[in-house]
Order: sequence, then C-alpha cells, then structure tokens
Amino acid sequence: MKDLSIHLTSESKVSKVDFHNLPFGKIITDHMFEIDFDGKQWVNPRISPVEKMSIHPMNMSLHDGQSIFEGMKASRSKDGTPLLFRPELHAKRMNASAKRMCMPEMPEELFVEAIHAIVGLEQEWIPKIEGSALYIRPLMFATDEMVGVKASDTYKMIIICLPVGPYYPKPIKLLVEHHYIRAAQGGVGEAKTAGNYAAALYPSKLAREKGYDQILWLDAIHHKFVQEVGTMNIFFVFKNEIVTPDTSGTILKGITRASALEILRGDGHVVNERELSIDEILTRYQAGDLVEVFGTGTAALVANVEEIKYNDITLTLPNNTWQISTSIRDEINGMRFGTIADKRGWTVPVKEVAVTV
Ligand SMILES: Cc1ncc(COP(=O)(O)O)c(C=O)c1O
Repeated sequence: MKDLSIHLTSESKVSKVDFHNLPFGKIITDHMFEIDFDGKQWVNPRISPVEKMSIHPMNMSLHDGQSIFEGMKASRSKDGTPLLFRPELHAKRMNASAKRMCMPEMPEELFVEAIHAIVGLEQEWIPKIEGSALYIRPLMFATDEMVGVKASDTYKMIIICLPVGPYYPKPIKLLVEHHYIRAAQGGVGEAKTAGNYAAALYPSKLAREKGYDQILWLDAIHHKFVQEVGTMNIFFVFKNEIVTPDTSGTILKGITRASALEILRGDGHVVNERELSIDEILTRYQAGDLVEVFGTGTAALVANVEEIKYNDITLTLPNNTWQISTSIRDEINGMRFGTIADKRGWTVPVKEVAVTV
C-alpha cells in the first residue's frame, strides 16, 4: 500500500493471552489500522499500537449515526499459513453499506490490502485451536464536527482485530418477535450500520430475560415472514427442500449465507431463497416435515437451533445429527483450517507487508 506508515508497539501482549479461554469480543491485539477520508480521498494509512481515540463532542457519527462496519475472520491453516475468508466480498458489502449511509466508498483493493497488512502484522494472534479465529472488525465513521443533520464530509476507517473462541458452544433457542421489527422495506436493514444493532438491543434483552438466545425477526408489514436472527441468516431444512428467506432489502446479505447456498447447491440439495411465513413453518413442523434449523454468520459460522417459540407454541427441533448444518460447518472450517482442499478458492493467504523499523 502506498504511503503506509507503521509504528510498532515496544511490548506485545500476545504471550499473556489464554487462547484456550477466549471470551468473544473482549481481547484486542496490539495494533490497529487507520485511514482518513479528507472529503476527497483516502489519506494517511497507518498502523500503530491500539490506543483510545479522542472524539470531539460534536462528532457527527455520535449524533446522527453514520457508522458502518464489517465482521470477518482470519484462521491459520494446518501448515501455519494465515488465511482470510472471501475478503473481497466484505469489501463489496462495506461499500454497499457506505453507499446506503451516504458515506464514501473505498476502492476494494485498498480495503483488502489494509486487511492483509494488519492481519499479516498481527498473525501471532491467530488462535491455533480449531473453532477459534482472529475476528477482524473494519469500522468507518463520520468525523466532521458539527451539530445538524447532514452527511459528514470527512470519515475515519479503522481495522481492529480480536482473537475469539466459539460464539455459540451449544444449540440455541429463538423467540419469534411479533411486536418489534428489525428492518422495513426501503430502510437500512441491508446495510451493516450501527443503528440496526442498537435498535435490536431492547427486544433482544427482553428475549434473553425469557430464556432465549436470539430473536427470529419477522417482516415489518405483515409480521408474518421470517427474516433473520440477531447476527445470522437463517435456514430451514424441510424433507424435500432447504429454505432461506430471500434478501429483499431488509436482510443483511450474509457472506456465510452465500457460501452455504453454494455448498448446498453443489452437494445437490434443493435450496430455495423465497418468502417463508411462520405459518408455513408451523404447519410443516406439525406434519413432521421440518428436520433442521440453523443460523449462519461469520461470528458463529453455523449455529444449530434447538427450539423456536412463537406465541404459545414451542417448536422443539428433533435432536438429530444436524446433518446439513454439520456438512456446511465441516466444509467451511475445513477450508479455513486447511484440512480439505479449497476447490472454490475462498481462502486467501495473508500477504505480509514489509516492516522497516
Ligand atoms: C444482521 C446480520 N445478519 C446476518 C449476518 C451474517 O453475515 P455474515 O455471514 O456475512 O457474517 C450478520 C453478521 O455479519 C448480521 O449482523
């Protein structure tokens, strides 16, 4: 990357980390990547030790929420090579979010190069334990200092990295939410923007108080068609077809979802992306036609669902072999950890940047 300046920490924290006991999202690596948008172009790329950022009280992202992010993972193949998973798709989605939130897009090569640079430098932090990974969080936010609703002219993009263990160690329970909604047609549900997550916090808290891990969102108009789950897309495996809701503007286009679809179709399964109503799910469950439900997302990869609660009805998923979700998990993990051949070319070895001290 042209003009990348690197300033290294004098003392790495990596040797103090217990990689066998990693809470999700709490441990950060030594360095972060930063780049600024000056109103015309991206300038001043740099990697430096992680430190607190000072924010002006009029910072526009705090007031109006121009803030978008990505979530991706680096793993280490069995021969030790650090690998990224489909980084170009994250670059594209970051730009799609940026466009919707009236923020500057970033050349895809620049985004991907920045990921390589920071992960290459922090590769000692990639856990060696299967199921664990280095979570990568690119975040872009407005930096103009002004109170008033308009798009900021200037922005900052940072990339931080966090070693993480498994997200859901066991099957999860979902509560179908029929009052609150996550996203409406024409809104920002398809963007990975901070406000979507803030809006979900209160209903998610209520669901947790009732003993559920996540909410299964319904559509905003009819409160009838299933959408997605917390930070995952959702798949329903029926005897003769696998269904996931089509991403019609209200659902985040998950990269794990896209990968799962390709794997399932490649394996010869009938997979349909279509509207799926909660009534259809209930009817087919009662007829014994629903075999498996699972969520897909970068953090969890694949999370098995053991229970869905809809009003007074509890759908208990048969405690089966989770055949379909296991096949997806095994295939993606196999690629990520280099235990199976990556015939699709989804994993990319990290290119290290030369560090001149
Ligand atoms: C709302 C939402 N849906 C779905 C997903 C799954 O997307 P991906 O598979 O790209 O991680 C995520 C996670 O990024 C998410 O935040």
